[in-house]
Amino acid sequence: MRELGHDDIEQVSRLSQLSFGYRSETAPSELRGMFGIDGADGRLAAMARVRSYEQLWGGRRVRMGGIASVAVHPDARGQGHASVLMRSLLPLMRSAAQPISALFPTGVGVYRPVGWEVVGSLDDTRIATRDLQPAGPPGAVQVRSAGPSDAATVAALYAGLGLNGLLTRDGEEFPSAEEALLEHDVVALAELDGSAVAYATYARGSGYREGSELRLRDFVHRSAPAAGALLRSLASWSTVAPTVLWRGPTTGLGLHLSRAVPPPVQSQPWMLRIVDAVAAVAQRGFLPDVDADSAFVLFDPDVADHCRPWRLRVTGGSGVLEELTPAADLPVLHVRGLALLYAGAADVAALLRAGLIDRPVPGLDAAFSAAQLPQILDYF
Ligand SMILES: CC(C)(COP(=O)(O)OP(=O)(O)OC[C@H]1O[C@@H](n2cnc3c(N)ncnc32)[C@H](O)[C@@H]1OP(=O)(O)O)[C@@H](O)C(=O)NCCC(=O)NCCS
Repeated sequence: MRELGHDDIEQVSRLSQLSFGYRSETAPSELRGMFGIDGADGRLAAMARVRSYEQLWGGRRVRMGGIASVAVHPDARGQGHASVLMRSLLPLMRSAAQPISALFPTGVGVYRPVGWEVVGSLDDTRIATRDLQPAGPPGAVQVRSAGPSDAATVAALYAGLGLNGLLTRDGEEFPSAEEALLEHDVVALAELDGSAVAYATYARGSGYREGSELRLRDFVHRSAPAAGALLRSLASWSTVAPTVLWRGPTTGLGLHLSRAVPPPVQSQPWMLRIVDAVAAVAQRGFLPDVDADSAFVLFDPDVADHCRPWRLRVTGGSGVLEELTPAADLPVLHVRGLALLYAGAADVAALLRAGLIDRPVPGLDAAFSAAQLPQILDYF
């Protein structure tokens, strides 16, 4: 595997368009974080990109390698190129201090054998716009369109969400986050007594009859009245946009509506891999009132440094994973099981049923206890 550079732009552009089925007149201008494998004929056979993100876990930032643009030329498929590529990215991410990695798979079969596991999904749900109308009269929260001077306020509301898994939307992958925010057709900002308490971003879509649809991106609120005011502003579109395509979880939304939210019309699962377990535990936060202590052997087919006995201690909101001197008869935890625990997407009982741990480990559930499933609201 080699890092791709300026000379590869044309091949990368062709392989992307072929693999993902779009046409573009303009080639990518840079190949930052792109790696590839050349075939025997010297042409680019496989490629992948590692994006440099930070994800929130337990309220702290954890550096995350976001894998995107994985593609193998049709002539080179079924020969193990994708596996080699993913395995080769692991030491790179470790040396780039990215202890975890996430990706949106088109097929989990490629990534599961190399240690990624499905821990969440980014859903789109189609909801009748009129069903968003909250019961009761409007309250004191006012909704207005945000302008350039509100960008930092909106970013702070997003950051305040604090959900596990959220991308921090800053750093090199979000070079102009404030400008991007204002590119949405509507950025609705809700205020109470002049203080921002909620916002929603959405695309208006086209037309004004059947089939016209708002495409909601963010819906962030700090209180029930703030949510109600925003929902009222969304529902006001019902005469010209009969549906809203709602991106992201709807569990919270459902608590504000008098009708059940329909099931998603599209789900994009995402997978997590623990690339460097010691750093992944050290960087994240844990629940402050948890005290946990557990020991296990980690099994990882692709990261030799992981394959040893470990002691995990969590106290005061922080965790540490320390190497244990070899001890006989410790439970064995698969690295995919660790990804599920880390994300709060499964407990030890579920790992036992999935064969990702060979016997119960006291303390593990307490250490990673999560109140809700993790969320990424940005597709990459
Ligand atoms: C998906 C793709 C990257 C696989 O590349 P590849 O080099 O043929 O894959 P490999 O030969 O390395 O196979 C690796 C593993 O994935 C599995 N796999 C390969 N293609 C698969 C598919 N379409 N569905 C499910 N599993 C698949 C293989 O069985 C193998 O599993 P194993 O290690 O247990 O034997 C390639 O088919 C491709 O470019 N497809 C179009 C673009 C795309 O889907 N990219 C992925 C974006 S997330």
